[in-house]
Amino acid sequence: MENNVVVITGGTSGIGRALCNRYIAAGYQVTIASRSEQILQKVQADIKSQGHDVFTVKTDVRIDEDCKNLVDAVVEKFGRIDIFINNAGITWYESDEGGINIEKHKEVIDTNLFGTVQCTKYALPHLLKSKGSLVGVCSIAGEVGLPNRSAYSASKFAMNGFLSSLRVQYINKGLHVLITYAGYTSTNIRKKVKKDHNSNDFPPGYGESINEISMMSAEQTAMYIFNGIKKRKRSVRPTSIGKLTVWLNKFLPKLNDKLAARYYN
Ligand SMILES: NC(=O)c1ccc[n+]([C@@H]2O[C@H](COP(=O)([O-])OP(=O)(O)OC[C@H]3O[C@@H](n4cnc5c(N)ncnc54)[C@H](OP(=O)(O)O)[C@@H]3O)[C@@H](O)[C@H]2O)c1
Repeated sequence: MENNVVVITGGTSGIGRALCNRYIAAGYQVTIASRSEQILQKVQADIKSQGHDVFTVKTDVRIDEDCKNLVDAVVEKFGRIDIFINNAGITWYESDEGGINIEKHKEVIDTNLFGTVQCTKYALPHLLKSKGSLVGVCSIAGEVGLPNRSAYSASKFAMNGFLSSLRVQYINKGLHVLITYAGYTSTNIRKKVKKDHNSNDFPPGYGESINEISMMSAEQTAMYIFNGIKKRKRSVRPTSIGKLTVWLNKFLPKLNDKLAARYYN
């Protein structure tokens, strides 16, 4: 298969890992990038045990040099990039009691926004050459302000703006830009916040107004993203609740503020 080189940041867990499986099954040359060499090796071993292969590059997307190295390594190995998926991301829960945590704001924005900006900077010339797909795994929180997620919402609104601007800038040069506004998906992202949080100001029900079991699976979210890339869509909103939230925010914003405060706690 031609035009089949895909790079997935944060490809070792959750949505990224499910995307990795989906692209491998479809016969693509897949590269995954994340911070832990040990976890990358474990994922690679799992995939090899199923008779497939994946290229891994240890990358911290907050570090510009790492992002350059990721793109250079992929181009050296495969000679091109057809799809670059900015998926690596973290979140943070900001309790009323704990207040605004500047350190966490910087960490979330460094990862979700600058990780995307830096990787895109180096991948873009190759995507323009291949007329490929630049993808951002954004969030409903990147279109609608969600409670207790001011760092996360700020990072995802900015990511949305960054990618939307590039879409328009390169519209006549064959670049496809997909922004995927994922909704609640069952992954490790919220569990990591719980581990990292001062238990005194952490609400026991965070992220559990709907529990993990009733959330969309990582595989389902990945399927929507995979199909969106294939059809060269400009946006994908996998969950119905996400679609409803965005619709209400546009047409009945005051009602949506009240509903979002209750649902997204
Ligand atoms: N789950 C949801 O409900 C949901 C909803 C909307 C949008 N999203 C978005 O979906 C994306 C994937 O999240 P997920 O839910 O699948 O979370 P996850 O299971 O926690 O996976 C996150 C991945 O990102 C990697 N990562 C984190 N920081 C990184 C860094 N600085 N450099 C490189 N890799 C890094 C992690 O690996 P290491 O920690 O080993 O580096 C891991 O592979 C995120 O952008 C998230 O905002 C998720």
